[in-house]
Amino acid sequence: MNDQTASYLANPEDVHRVLLLYSGGLDTSVMLKWIQDQYRAEVVALTVNLGQPGEDYEVVKGKATALGAVGAFVVDAREEFAREYIAPAIRANAIYGLGYPLFTALGRPLIAKLAVQYARENGCDTIAHGCTGKGNDQVRIESTIATLAPELKVIAPVRSWKMGRDEEVAYAREHGIPLKGGSEVAPYSIDDNLWGRSSEGRWIEELGTAPQDDVFQLVTRPEEAPDQAETLMIDFESGVPVGLDGDRLELVELLERVAAAGMRHGVGIVDHIEDRIVGLKVRDIYEVPAAAILLPAHAELERLVGTIHQNQFKSMLDQRWAYLVYAGLWWEPLRTDLDAYMEAANQYVTGRVGVKLFKGSARVVTRESPYAVYDAQLATFSESGGLFSQEASPGFIELWSLQSRMAWQVRNRA
Ligand code: ARG
Repeated sequence: MNDQTASYLANPEDVHRVLLLYSGGLDTSVMLKWIQDQYRAEVVALTVNLGQPGEDYEVVKGKATALGAVGAFVVDAREEFAREYIAPAIRANAIYGLGYPLFTALGRPLIAKLAVQYARENGCDTIAHGCTGKGNDQVRIESTIATLAPELKVIAPVRSWKMGRDEEVAYAREHGIPLKGGSEVAPYSIDDNLWGRSSEGRWIEELGTAPQDDVFQLVTRPEEAPDQAETLMIDFESGVPVGLDGDRLELVELLERVAAAGMRHGVGIVDHIEDRIVGLKVRDIYEVPAAAILLPAHAELERLVGTIHQNQFKSMLDQRWAYLVYAGLWWEPLRTDLDAYMEAANQYVTGRVGVKLFKGSARVVTRESPYAVYDAQLATFSESGGLFSQEASPGFIELWSLQSRMAWQVRNRA
């Protein structure tokens, strides 16, 4: 009998071999030991490379093995992440709330999908992760596992072990788990990948406190950015960036190069309060240099080639797409349906956009497309010709305003 609150949670007696999503940080390192002790189970560690800057994956792998993992795998999923997750997000202009480009939300379903694959290949019965019970990430990971692998069970030790940071540090000391850096100051809670980085915790929880400089590990503070502006020329094909300053690039490299330029110029700092799906409002500091350049560039080109009708409609679907992804429903068929629409709507989103970077801002300054629904000659003032006739305008205005004029009169009858 399962006496858990959800069918996919593991009963302790059924846990024999656990696939642990391992980052190498304090929580999951303590977890690697704790699972072996508490469940008398074997642990296989999986670390997913989604382009976390500055991570040494060999060190992480060595640490897992030293802590007793019977298997330790590192998988480089950057390309799949870029092509199958970030590219669709760009086509969908994906932003949640007032500026979160969803990098974490996009990464979780892929990480969990890989966990399922490695669990199956390694004969694991259970998957463990390090998410807390207060965040969105548990939702994204567990709904992925429950969807893709109904036969696998889940444990989420952080939700149940009731250790605070001090207890975890003590546990680590006691069990010979190496601590990164000093253990005195609690670090920010960080999550990062190719598409951005988030920080939570410490002073960030005080809504009246302005960002303190030490939180910015990627982006140069705008005040210290170069006095010289730089303009990036970004080429898109069918809604996906394919080139930078005339070089044709694979998406991963393009994202990295755009991010590097944004970081130099202080671009992509977002101070965001978010409505989580688990009810809370939480503040995050985001550093999203690549997204802060590529999303506006894409949106600009899309609006240039789209008609007024396509443009008005698409932004509604964009919002829906972003919310599904934020809310952990990557595998929901509506997302796939919307993606088919996004691809169709992006078929002609091909061209070049210039984005000027300067002390924290990224501003579109040029745009060109063979499919632009635009004619420079028609756009000039006062000249008629081609498809546009100024003589036709008054007739249009008379009919366009008809209902409004009638309503006005009806309502203002003395
Ligand atoms: N608030 C963002 C989200 O829900 C970022 C979460 C970051 N995750 C983390 N474990 N620190 O998608």
